[in-house]
Amino acid sequence: MHYSTILGIESSCDDTAVAIWHRGKILANITTGQEIHQDYGGVVPELASRAHQSHIIPALDKALKTANIAVNEIDAIAVAQGPGLMGSLLVGLNTAKGLAMSLNKPLVGVNHLQAHIAALYIDNPEPAFPLLVLLVSGGHTQLILVRDFMDTQLLGSTLDDAAGEAFDKAAKLLGLPYPGGPHVEKWAQSGNCRAFPFPQASVAGLNMSFSGIKTSLLYFLQKESKHNPDFKSKNLADICASYQQSIIDYLTGKVNKAVNEFSPKTIGLVGGVSANKALREAIKNLAANHNAECLIPSFEYCTDNAAMVCMAGHLMLKYGGISGLDIVPYSKNNSKQ
Ligand code: KG4
Ligand code: ZN
Repeated sequence: MHYSTILGIESSCDDTAVAIWHRGKILANITTGQEIHQDYGGVVPELASRAHQSHIIPALDKALKTANIAVNEIDAIAVAQGPGLMGSLLVGLNTAKGLAMSLNKPLVGVNHLQAHIAALYIDNPEPAFPLLVLLVSGGHTQLILVRDFMDTQLLGSTLDDAAGEAFDKAAKLLGLPYPGGPHVEKWAQSGNCRAFPFPQASVAGLNMSFSGIKTSLLYFLQKESKHNPDFKSKNLADICASYQQSIIDYLTGKVNKAVNEFSPKTIGLVGGVSANKALREAIKNLAANHNAECLIPSFEYCTDNAAMVCMAGHLMLKYGGISGLDIVPYSKNNSKQ
C-alpha cells in the first residue's frame, strides 16, 4: 500500500504542531507555541495540555488550508506517541485517533526522538549510512548510530540534564526568558567565548552529564556578584558566550570520540539545540575534518514540529506497519507508561 499524503500531529511538550507531507514534500508545517509558560520559567504540564486543546483544531484547519487539500484527501495520520508530557500527548493522540476513525484511514504512532532523527531525511531522503546522530533537545541528549532507516543503536546519553535544559536553566539564572537557548545564543554572539572557564563533567565513554555546568554557573555568579552586584548585567555577553562554548566543546568532544569508534559516513545534528548556529558550525567543521558528510535540518525542522512526525510516519508505513486505534501515549522513552 502506498500512502501519498500523510497528516502529522505533534503535541509532546508545549508546541502544538500539524503538518502535511505529500510524495516527499512538506506542503504545510504549522507550529503554535505557548507563551503562557514564560511567566513560570519552564513548561507547566497542566497549562500545556489545556493550551493544546485550544490550539489543535485551528492548527489542523490552517495546515489543510496552507496545503490546499481537503481532509478526505489524507491517506494516513501520523502522531507523536511519546516520550513527552502525558496530558499533552493525549491531546494530539486523541485528535489523530478521531481523524483516523472518521476518515477510515490508518493511524501510525511514532516515537518523538525517532521523529527528530527523521527530520534529517526531509531534505535528504537518501543519506549515506552509517549515520551518527547527535540529538540535543530540551528533554534528551543522545548519541545514536543509524545503520539504516529503521536500524538504530543508542550509543550514549546524558545521565542527568539534557543539553537544552542546561541552556534553559542558565537563562533562568541570568534573568533571560524561557525557553533560554535562543536568548543565551543571542547574547553569546557579542561575547568572548573564552572569557570565563566553565568545567566539563568527566563521564566515561559516550554518556554525558550537564547538571554540573549549570551548578558551576550558579556558584560563579554568586561569588562574583558578592563584591560586584552588577557583575551579571555587565558581563552577560561574555558569560553566555563562555557557557555556550563549554557545552559545544563537551558535545563535540563526545561526537569526536564516537566518530573515531564507529567511522560514520554521515554525521547528523538534530533536536531543538541544533538550531544553535555556533553548534551547527562546530559539527560541520568536525564532519569536514573526518571527511564525513554533515546533515542538519533547516531551522523550521529543528525545534518540535510536525513535519518530522510526517517523515517518521512515512518511514514507519513503508518499513514497519500501522498502529492499532488502541495505542496509548508513553511519557518515557522505551516505556509504555
Ligand atoms: O526539540 P525541542 O523543541 O523540544 C524537546 O523535545 O525538548 O527542544 C527545545 C530545546 C529548549 O531547551 C531550547 O532552549 C533549546 O531547544 N533551543 C536552543 C536553541 N533553540 C532552541 N538551544 C540553544 N540554542 C538555540 N538557538
Ligand atoms: Zn523534541
